[in-house]
Amino acid sequence: MSSPRILMCPPTHYGIHYEINPWMNTERQADHPLAQEQWRALRGHLVAAGATIEELAPVDGLPDLVFTANAAMVFGRKAVISHFKHPQRQGEEEHFRRWLAADGFEALETPNQFSFEGAGDALFCGDTLFAGYRQRSDALGHQQIGEMLGIRVLPLELIDSYYYHLDTCFCPLTADSAIYFPGAFDDYGQRVLAANVPTLIAVEEEEARSFACNAVVVGRTVVTNVGCPHLHEQLRNAGFTPVETPLGEFVKAGGSAKCLTLRLEGEDAAVWANST
Ligand code: ARG
Repeated sequence: MSSPRILMCPPTHYGIHYEINPWMNTERQADHPLAQEQWRALRGHLVAAGATIEELAPVDGLPDLVFTANAAMVFGRKAVISHFKHPQRQGEEEHFRRWLAADGFEALETPNQFSFEGAGDALFCGDTLFAGYRQRSDALGHQQIGEMLGIRVLPLELIDSYYYHLDTCFCPLTADSAIYFPGAFDDYGQRVLAANVPTLIAVEEEEARSFACNAVVVGRTVVTNVGCPHLHEQLRNAGFTPVETPLGEFVKAGGSAKCLTLRLEGEDAAVWANST
């Protein structure tokens, strides 16, 4: 497998400057030096697993720019640029658009001003795009993106505001297996997942709260926050190499390992490559 490229943004201007999800509390500020150290350690684990890291320059006044998963949804050399629901993050769009275009991506806009938060809410498992809606991204927007790219989309309603992006409760491992937290979905969503993903590893609530599902998969290595021992045991039994690294300073903003990364070959390539 060739080295996967991953986009990250150093946490130079990271902090809890507003509250747009239930994890954020401006009175529970991030420890800045510790956040830098945690980010560097995550970067190191990804490099050790075989990834090549690209860096987006941090921008003062855009504290959540570190969460590059929300930049866009990458599909081959096309990137559907996010349109954030909250005005606090809309200033990030031009920086993500510029970086991706300069890297050679064909930058496509989210159709019709729908809210769409990129790989945070749109994840390929095999050739199907699983798309989280209601909290941040719009269901109809996902459908229109699917039509625009000619891909099958399965929308999943996210019912719990703590799991406001799909990547906080669902993580494809290969083209036919994924990690998920059942409690973030309604009965219908759980049935859709069971019917379309042959192997599902369920995460228990306590570990889901530690962002167990917010994992970065590089080959057979799966990097998560600390506090997910049971998931790690399940991953080892399934032939993966789980790695834990503390990301508590980013949990304060409602993010963890996966949120801090954007896979540049596309999530589709990620799962296809892993399953060969
Ligand atoms: N504070 C950020 C927000 O609420 C966190 C984003 C986390 N990203 C993710 N892909 N889940 O938008």
